Amino acid sequence: QLDQRTQHIMQLDWDQLQQAVRECTACELCQTRTQTVFGVGDPQAQLLVVGEAPGADEDAQGEPFVGKAGKLLDNMLASIGQRRGQKIFIANVLKCRPPANRNPQAHEVAQCAPFLARQIELIAPKVLYASGRFAIQSLLNNDAPISAQRGKIHQYRQVPVVVSYHPAYLLRNMPDKAKAWQDLLLLKSQLNEQ
Ligand code: URA
Repeated sequence: QLDQRTQHIMQLDWDQLQQAVRECTACELCQTRTQTVFGVGDPQAQLLVVGEAPGADEDAQGEPFVGKAGKLLDNMLASIGQRRGQKIFIANVLKCRPPANRNPQAHEVAQCAPFLARQIELIAPKVLYASGRFAIQSLLNNDAPISAQRGKIHQYRQVPVVVSYHPAYLLRNMPDKAKAWQDLLLLKSQLNEQ
């Protein structure tokens, strides 16, 4: 049973969805954001990358993953031949920046979830790449640690999901970079599947 707001969002087209995100006041993050961050890239992308939430740079520029973590994400994607703007779409679980980059709260994720759900439905990507704990939780509906979930293909409504560590985490935990590299190869093989 979907609530009315979700039902409404799930019927919006791409432009309407962008506008709905821009005008959203469903949670208190609307009071502290500079602007919403809808996502960036090709609406017909094969690969949809899902991160956590805008940080200070993203909030200022209106584009996801433009700060330090974003640089690493771009490099990670480049290592498997993927480039921002070319058959990729990059979005976040939250479209607004949590103050001081604190973790997303459950009610914020719940209010924002229909936007991501509709983005996924409209883009209909071949593969989803869930980057970090909040993306994984929100797409797969579970709380298990990343270490227990990586290395296999999950599903979000028939769409294969590859999970991995968030680039901001990798910047602080270099040893896990090797694992993230393996995850990227898994992502690459999914993208190349017929
Ligand atoms: N981290 C995220 O999860 N998303 C961004 O857009 C930037 C940093």
